[in-house]
Amino acid sequence: MTTTQAIQRAAELRQMIKGHNRHYYVLNQPVISDFEYDMLLQELATIEKKFPQLVTADSPTQQVGSDITKEFVQVAHKYPMLSLSNTYSMEELLEFDNRVRKGLDGEPEYVCELKFDGTAIGLTYLGGRLHQAVTRGDGQSGDDVTANVRTIPAIPQQLQGNDFPREFEIRGEIYMPFHAFERLNREREVDGEQPFANPRNAAAGSLKLLDSSEVARRGLSCSLYYLLGEQLPAGNHYENLLAAKRWGFAVSEHICKCSSIEEVFGFIRHWETAREALPYATDGVVIKVNSFAHQRRLGFTAKSPRWAAAFKFKAEQVLTELLSVDFQVGRTGVITPVANLAPVLLAGTTVKRASLHNAEQIASLDIRLHDWVKVEKGGEIIPKVVGVDLERRAAGSEPFQYITHCPECGAALVRDEGEARHYCPNDVHCPPQILGKIEHFAGRKAMNITAGEATIELLFRKGLVKNAADLYALKKEDLAHFDNWGEKSAENLVKSIAASVGTPFEKVLFALGIHYVGETTARKIAAAMRSIDALAHAGKEQLLAIDEVGERIADSILAYFADESNRELVARLRAAGVQFEAGAQERLSDTLAGMSFVITGTLSRPREDFKTLIEQHGGSAGNTFSAKTTHLLAGDKSGSKLEKARKLGIKIINEETFRSMLEPV
Ligand code: IVH
Repeated sequence: MTTTQAIQRAAELRQMIKGHNRHYYVLNQPVISDFEYDMLLQELATIEKKFPQLVTADSPTQQVGSDITKEFVQVAHKYPMLSLSNTYSMEELLEFDNRVRKGLDGEPEYVCELKFDGTAIGLTYLGGRLHQAVTRGDGQSGDDVTANVRTIPAIPQQLQGNDFPREFEIRGEIYMPFHAFERLNREREVDGEQPFANPRNAAAGSLKLLDSSEVARRGLSCSLYYLLGEQLPAGNHYENLLAAKRWGFAVSEHICKCSSIEEVFGFIRHWETAREALPYATDGVVIKVNSFAHQRRLGFTAKSPRWAAAFKFKAEQVLTELLSVDFQVGRTGVITPVANLAPVLLAGTTVKRASLHNAEQIASLDIRLHDWVKVEKGGEIIPKVVGVDLERRAAGSEPFQYITHCPECGAALVRDEGEARHYCPNDVHCPPQILGKIEHFAGRKAMNITAGEATIELLFRKGLVKNAADLYALKKEDLAHFDNWGEKSAENLVKSIAASVGTPFEKVLFALGIHYVGETTARKIAAAMRSIDALAHAGKEQLLAIDEVGERIADSILAYFADESNRELVARLRAAGVQFEAGAQERLSDTLAGMSFVITGTLSRPREDFKTLIEQHGGSAGNTFSAKTTHLLAGDKSGSKLEKARKLGIKIINEETFRSMLEPV
């Protein structure tokens, strides 16, 4: 690898890893497995080792992914909250053992524990009472989630006994046991909400809810595994954990002192399969050097202690029968084959469906109907079929025939050269694609129409809405006869649709769903072209001159406006009052001059819109309180920012008051 290649690949990897960090820690919706993530991180670390000049302070190899959310008050950790380096092989653990023994010049004693798959928490106790609970955040400071943590029965509010230090911190993992996870997902499905992909996401998501009574209902639990403080009762990890257990903390029963790395291997081998019977998710074993004196000698790297390591289990696999294959058509027309399986227990949950990826994967694994297939939860996300047990194949079975036509609209499928996936090219008439476009149009980042996907789907299935423009023709009376629809919900939806005509042009452009025109590109195009008419009449050269617009995007825009039905859609939306011109960016008034706002909670429109309004009227807006902050604009479910504003004496206003401030006197 040349230096130039290394620079390029390191930048790529950093960008990918940062994106994945956001999905994992903030959105609680990982898109790749832990294993795949670790492989990206490892590749970056290898490059940085070879080219040390490329290491930057903000490289993900030097930092802990951040879970910080705007809604909570941030608190600095007294002791940084680090993570552990992951190992997947016994060889790597042997290397860890060698490093430890070299560093100590002697034999260490290890403590082995299960690695709970949840979300980390730091609890501070003062005088035996729970004082504060803080998430890991970026490792230096995290979110104060004390109110939520107080609802978790496994976490004592008041300690037992009298030999606890006056002040100390205990860290652990908040997790959601399988039974609570299954119940929550059943409820969410009934309510038409997206189920959580796994118990870890469910735990992390629940801990960040703004309503503590809802947190209390979620059935969270917590296992404590690490004490910090100046006056801990013992000079080693194991005895401190036993003391914590006496004080009333939930400390795992499955902890083992080991005097050699062979004993550590024994613990791992046992739990690699025994964990399948546990009522909660575990994803590995944590190995810690027991003696504090030894821990101090070994010290820390920027990211993790040298005295501990995490051994991650391989994803669990099971064999089950492939009953049939469904083909899902995505909103962009992409076809995804999905396996229907004989129900089977995997990583604590019953699996009935799994991804088959694409035609190529099915062909290369030679997967056939009624085969016994190997199913795996990649980092416990969506299960996937990863292989076939050929010995159990029935005589006379035939290779799988992939579909040639769209199961939804019958159009002949297309597969571009070099692409693994088939897609349905009928984007104008294929129902899931039309529905997908309308859902995208109404989405939060687009027109922000407050109708869930279930509502839009209902309107579509009933034939009331066939494209985005039809939304603007809806009347309260059209909706009133729907099952379970109160007058109020019908009225709210119609109001929200009417309010959406105020959406700025750049978002309208994004809402149209032109292929490859994402949020940022739409903003750049809106700034450059200023109106849909200018855009519709622009030639390729003109389009290519816009920042961020290349061949692919330019062609896609040209194709969009060449299509009669798209031009008609734009004309109807325009007639409904939707903005197809960039608004004047200049100052509208000085009404808010000298005022500085922080916005929190749920408002009738996205926060960005309020920020724009504030700036147009001469004020400024930020995400966190500073000495300059004069107002807190608080919506529904405002959480801990309210409390903080009160403490700081910052004026708290609601949306109505805010709007009245903008009206001319
Ligand atoms: S010890 C400095 N013990 O795994 C030592 N961590 O990548 C800090 N975890 O951030 C952690 N079970 O969220 C430790 N028995 C256990 C654990 C555990 C789960 C999590 C924790 C930590 C991550 C390590």
